[in-house]
Amino acid sequence: MSMHNKLVIFDTTLRDGEQSPGASMTKAEKLRIAKSLEKMRVDVIEAGFAIASQGDFDSVKAIADTVRESRICSLSRALDKDIDRAAEALKGAEASRIHTFIATSPIHMKYKLQMEPDAVIAQAIHAVKRARNYTDDVEFSCEDAGRSEIDFLCRIIEAAIDAGATTINIPDTVGYAIPAQFGETVGTLIERIPNSDKAIFSVHCHNDLGLAVANSLSAVNHGARQVECTINGLGERAGNASLEELVMAVRTRPDIFDVVTNIDTTQIVPASKLVSTITGFPVQPNKAIVGANAFAHESGIHQDGILKHRETYEIMKAEDVGWHTNSLVLGKHSGRNAFRSRIEELGITLESETALNKAFSAFKELADKKHEIFDEDLHALVSDTKAIEADERYQLVCMSVTSETGVAPVAKVTLLVDGEELSAENTGSGPVDATFCAIEALVESGISLQLYSVNSITSGTDSQGEVTVRVEKGGRIVNGLGADTDIVIASAKAYLHALNLMCSTQAKRHPQGEV
Ligand code: KIV
Ligand code: ZN
Repeated sequence: MSMHNKLVIFDTTLRDGEQSPGASMTKAEKLRIAKSLEKMRVDVIEAGFAIASQGDFDSVKAIADTVRESRICSLSRALDKDIDRAAEALKGAEASRIHTFIATSPIHMKYKLQMEPDAVIAQAIHAVKRARNYTDDVEFSCEDAGRSEIDFLCRIIEAAIDAGATTINIPDTVGYAIPAQFGETVGTLIERIPNSDKAIFSVHCHNDLGLAVANSLSAVNHGARQVECTINGLGERAGNASLEELVMAVRTRPDIFDVVTNIDTTQIVPASKLVSTITGFPVQPNKAIVGANAFAHESGIHQDGILKHRETYEIMKAEDVGWHTNSLVLGKHSGRNAFRSRIEELGITLESETALNKAFSAFKELADKKHEIFDEDLHALVSDTKAIEADERYQLVCMSVTSETGVAPVAKVTLLVDGEELSAENTGSGPVDATFCAIEALVESGISLQLYSVNSITSGTDSQGEVTVRVEKGGRIVNGLGADTDIVIASAKAYLHALNLMCSTQAKRHPQGEV
């Protein structure tokens, strides 16, 4: 593959994706996602923003120490302390990248940075040089490039490349760009900047107008050779360009895009499900490539056409993106070793024998209720047992719900609250509402429920229901997850998980908006 035609896939699910309100992930969860990205052969994994918090630092470090096949990157502002922290976290990586950025639009420079344009250029040069002392792979981003002046972009980018930047990223930070115009801007930069051949040009598009993928693809046709993207399009506000859509667009239309990626596309659906399970952000059924209906044909005319000749209505094969690769993995009679090795194959690390035992007994319990256990079940089960492990302040001991036509449902819930067993009963508009009201009668948390959703993990009425609840208190938002073959129990688990997270997690800092 000629370097000229290689499109570098830079995944930022673990950094920009995590900036979606409620999508914060633990170190172990990030590691699982990083391993699935490595398996998918993603070229660069942006593992986090090392200076943001101790948790971010630890996650970047753990990923840098573990992943071997993908380059690991940490974000940093154009500040010495950020760059040094990124470098420290990346020490153990086989291949590393420091990604440093500064805002370049007039509005950001004037109001946010309160700096003169020449000072911004000087700071960018200093940051790139400092990063180059640690690694020969340095990316420089012009934050809010989508609203920056082209002459200024030419000046700062030329200076950054002279200082040693090997990738130049043009982010449409606020999702303002329009495809034809954005592509042309990238093409003009490559043409006008005298040393542009010394760096790979990259784009990083946000989806505020629903154009992130279209803008990125337009840039590819004007010479961009790296796209920054996330699984399921997760990301700040309306999200980032979706990895699966970008990869499949260039693969499906080689007549339009003269580039190839290194991605193993059969890993796309498993990665999408994993990210959705971990973050609690469900994938809409009609989402391109990874939505449950993406390859479903309802109309009789379409079904008839497909049966006669698949290409009549299908431009991609479902199995090429990893649908239907669901293998029956384990069952009721599977032993502990089979369970352990399947968990390991899925890239899941259970920190201790106790954690393994806990997950194994949850698996046995599930196998009693549901005969066929799939990979998705195992992911949900591990997330569920980890959710219980995460913080033990509130634990579900037992519950019962009665629901009858014409009578308000009643839920009885027994919880361990700080080690003390307490019970309460309450009614509600439905069984789930009654359960949450009963829990609230005990904990009086003061949280407000922002989202409640149930997803069936596999098909069939014996499937586990996976429940996500998003709750808010004092401006902090967390997502709770729970899985069970009984969706009311799954709902209670999810609610308690959210309560436990609310009690335990520190508010996360996102210094990206700071100077
Ligand atoms: O959207 C943005 O500008 C970013 C940069 C830090 C690349 O996320
Ligand atoms: Zn971004």
